[in-house]
Amino acid sequence: MPKNFQSSSNVACAVLILAAGQGKRMRSSLPKVLHEVAGQSMISHLLDRVREALPGAPIGLVVGHGRDQVEAAIHAYPGVNELNLTFIDQPEQRGTGHAARCAMDSAWGAEVVRKKIPVLVLPGDLPLVSAELIREVSETLGRSAWMRLLSCELPDPTGYGRVIRKGKTGPVLRIVEEKDASDRERLVREVGTSIYCFNSAFLKSGLSRLSTKNAQGEYYLTDLVAQASRAKKGVEVLVWPHAEELRGVNDLWELSEAGRLLNERCLRRWAKNGVKFVAPQSTWVESTVVFEGTAEVEPNVLLKGTTRIGDGARLGPHLVLKNVQVGPQAVVKAGTVAEDAIIGAQAQVGPYAHLRPGTRVGEACKVGNFVELKQTSLGKKTSVAHLSYLGDAEVGARVNIGCGFVTCNYDGKSKSKTVIEDDVFMGSDCQAVAPVKIGKGAYVASGSTITADVEAGALAVARSRQVVKPGYASKYRK
Ligand code: UD1
Ligand code: CA
Repeated sequence: MPKNFQSSSNVACAVLILAAGQGKRMRSSLPKVLHEVAGQSMISHLLDRVREALPGAPIGLVVGHGRDQVEAAIHAYPGVNELNLTFIDQPEQRGTGHAARCAMDSAWGAEVVRKKIPVLVLPGDLPLVSAELIREVSETLGRSAWMRLLSCELPDPTGYGRVIRKGKTGPVLRIVEEKDASDRERLVREVGTSIYCFNSAFLKSGLSRLSTKNAQGEYYLTDLVAQASRAKKGVEVLVWPHAEELRGVNDLWELSEAGRLLNERCLRRWAKNGVKFVAPQSTWVESTVVFEGTAEVEPNVLLKGTTRIGDGARLGPHLVLKNVQVGPQAVVKAGTVAEDAIIGAQAQVGPYAHLRPGTRVGEACKVGNFVELKQTSLGKKTSVAHLSYLGDAEVGARVNIGCGFVTCNYDGKSKSKTVIEDDVFMGSDCQAVAPVKIGKGAYVASGSTITADVEAGALAVARSRQVVKPGYASKYRK
C-alpha cells in the first residue's frame, strides 16, 4: 500500500461513472444507462447533475456492454462540450470492482493518482441523485480517511448490499451483498448505495487486491470498505436522509417509479415558482421544459423537449406539446397537439388543433377546432377558427380564414407555397391551389377554388353562378 494517501486539498474531484453493465433485469437489448426516463436517458440525468455539482471535473466513464451505442448517445448529449470526459473500456463485465479497476489502470486513472485527486464513484443507474448529494459526498476527505461511503436506511433493503457495523451503531466494518449475507445480516436496513469518494492511491491499490471469492464470482467494489476499515479510521460514512434519491433502476418497473419521482420533483419546483397544476398526478413535464412565469395547467397535459411556456399562459386539459414556445397570456385549449411550433402572446389555440412542425401562430391569433397547420405562419390577429388545413402557407395579419379552407399544397410530387397577404377575407369552404398568392385586402367569395393569383383589393369569385328556377321543385317531385 502506498504510504501517502493524503490528497492535496485544493484540487477538484474526479468522477468515475460505472456504466458497463448490461442490465439483464431490464429485459431489453438497449444498454441500461440509455433507457429514457422523464425525457432523457439515465446517463444524461446523471451527467446533468455532475456538471451542476462539479463543473469541469474530469469524468471517467466505464463502458462495455453496448459501448458504441453508449458513446454515440453521449456524443449527442447537449452538454457534451462542457464535459471533461474520457471513455474507459471494460471488455468483460466482471463486477463493479473490476469496472473501477479498468479505470484506475487506464491512463485516466494514472493521471488522477499522479495529481492526488480524490475519486467520486457513481453507478450509472441512479437517475434521481441530486447535485447537492454529489457535492456533499465529494467534499474533502478527513486527513486519515481513505474513503467515504454513502449509505441510507431503507424500509425494504432487498437487493442492496448491507452495511455491517461494529455493534449497532459503531464504525462500519464491511458491506455484504444480499447474495452473500447471512439471515441475520439481511435484517440490516442500512444499505450501501454504490456512491463513494475514494483517496485515489487507496482506490488504485485496494482494487488490485480484490478477489472473486463470493456468491457471484465477481470483483466487488464494496469489498474496499472492509479493506479501509481494517486500517484505523479508514472509512467515513455519510448517511443520506433522502432515500428516494438513491433508488437504483434495475428493471422497467423501477424505471417507471424513477420517472414518477423525477416528474414530481420537477412539478414541485415549478409550482413553488407560481405554476398551478390542477392534477399533478396526470401532468408530465420533462426536465428540459421551462415556465417563464406563472401559468395554469389543467389535467392530462404532457410537455416535452424544449417547450417554453410564457407568463400567464393557460394550458389544457389533454395536451401534448413538444418543442413548443407558448407566448405570454396564450391559451392552449383541450385536445391540442403541437410539435416544433411557436404560439404567440395572447393567442388562442384549440380545442383540438394540430400544429405540426414549422408552425408560427402570431400574437392574438385564433386557431380553432379541427384546424391543422404545417410549415405555416399566421400574422398578428389572424383567425382560422374552424375545420381548415394550411400547409406551406404564409398568412399576413388580420386575415380571416372562414370555415373549411384548404391549401392544396401538394401535387403528388412536390409542395408549393400559398401566400395570403394582410387583411384578406377568405369566405368559407374555399381552396387555394398552390403556388398562389392572394393580395392585400382581397376578398374571396365562399366556395371558391382559387387557382390563379388575386391582386390586392380585388374580389375573387371562383364558383359557378347560382341558377334559380321558380316552381321547379314541385314540378320535379311530381
Ligand atoms: C451494487 C452494489 C450494492 C449496492 C447497489 C446500490 C456491488 C458489488 N454491489 O449492486 O452493494 O447496494 O449497487 O445500487 O458493488 N457495472 C459495470 N461493470 C460491471 C458490473 C457493473 O460497469 O462489471 C456498473 C453497472 O452498469 C451499474 C453499476 O455498475 O451502473 C452497478 O452495478 P449493478 O449490477 O447494478 O449493481 P447492484 O447489483 O445494483
Ligand atoms: Ca444497480
